[in-house]
Amino acid sequence: MSNLPRLRPVFYLLAGLSLVALPATHAASTTPAVPAAPPLPYTTGVKTRDGLGKYYFGREIAHYMTHQGAPWLERAERDTEERPDLVMKALALKPGDLVADLGCGTGYFSWRMAQAVGPKGVVYGVEIQQEMLDLLAANMKPRGVANVVGVRGALDDPKLPQPVDLAIMVDVYHECSEPAEFLAAVCRHLKPGGRLVFVEYRGEDPEVPIKALHKMTEAQVKKEMTAQPLDYIETVRSLPRQHLIIFKKRAAP
Ligand SMILES: C[S@@+](CC[C@H](N)C(=O)[O-])C[C@H]1O[C@@H](n2cnc3c(N)ncnc32)[C@H](O)[C@@H]1O
Repeated sequence: MSNLPRLRPVFYLLAGLSLVALPATHAASTTPAVPAAPPLPYTTGVKTRDGLGKYYFGREIAHYMTHQGAPWLERAERDTEERPDLVMKALALKPGDLVADLGCGTGYFSWRMAQAVGPKGVVYGVEIQQEMLDLLAANMKPRGVANVVGVRGALDDPKLPQPVDLAIMVDVYHECSEPAEFLAAVCRHLKPGGRLVFVEYRGEDPEVPIKALHKMTEAQVKKEMTAQPLDYIETVRSLPRQHLIIFKKRAAP
């Protein structure tokens, strides 16, 4: 209480400054020029059961699958449901290629791609969950696969150790929580002319028995890639439940 009288003049000065409107010219000359922040590409909206309530290009982003779901990735019927042989044919990998299996999970595709690129090639199995990387290592060992390298990535950066010829996301992109940043980083890590491939359950097809947020339409994938330095190449439609959508890194102008 005894301090109050001494503080009063300071208080009146501050209060007065905030109440007196300055002339526009004065205000402009005293306000530091702060550049406007670029608009965030995300919006918030209704949070559904399987989603984050975070939207990108109008699509609600799904929760990522935790390592408890790993047995589903290795289910026996997956070979007939997803036809990995047709996926491998579409990828047309060459010996010596460097590949990023982004969100590799247990490595269902990693070892297949590792065989295709041969001993001179490498498959980087990128995961945000250490438990998945442990399962990846455990699954490569009995197969004698030595050219799959596990990489602990971040939500917004795969942290690839070197540029790759091909990056693939099988059933992953719809659950990337920072898709704009993550894909920008992926594009930086693609060699010139390198390919980025998405394999997603077809969102256009109500017969595909997968939760809505874990499917994507071809139109939505293409729309979201307009934010990246990528050119659309083709869509492979021969898979039973998914589409395989191929983009290529755009040549620098
Ligand atoms: C449905 S699983 C698919 C796994 C594997 N691609 C397959 O087809 O068997 C999705 C995986 O993506 C991973 N994931 C999600 N977001 C990721 C990100 N930003 N970077 C790396 N992995 C991610 C999850 O941890 C999960 O293991």
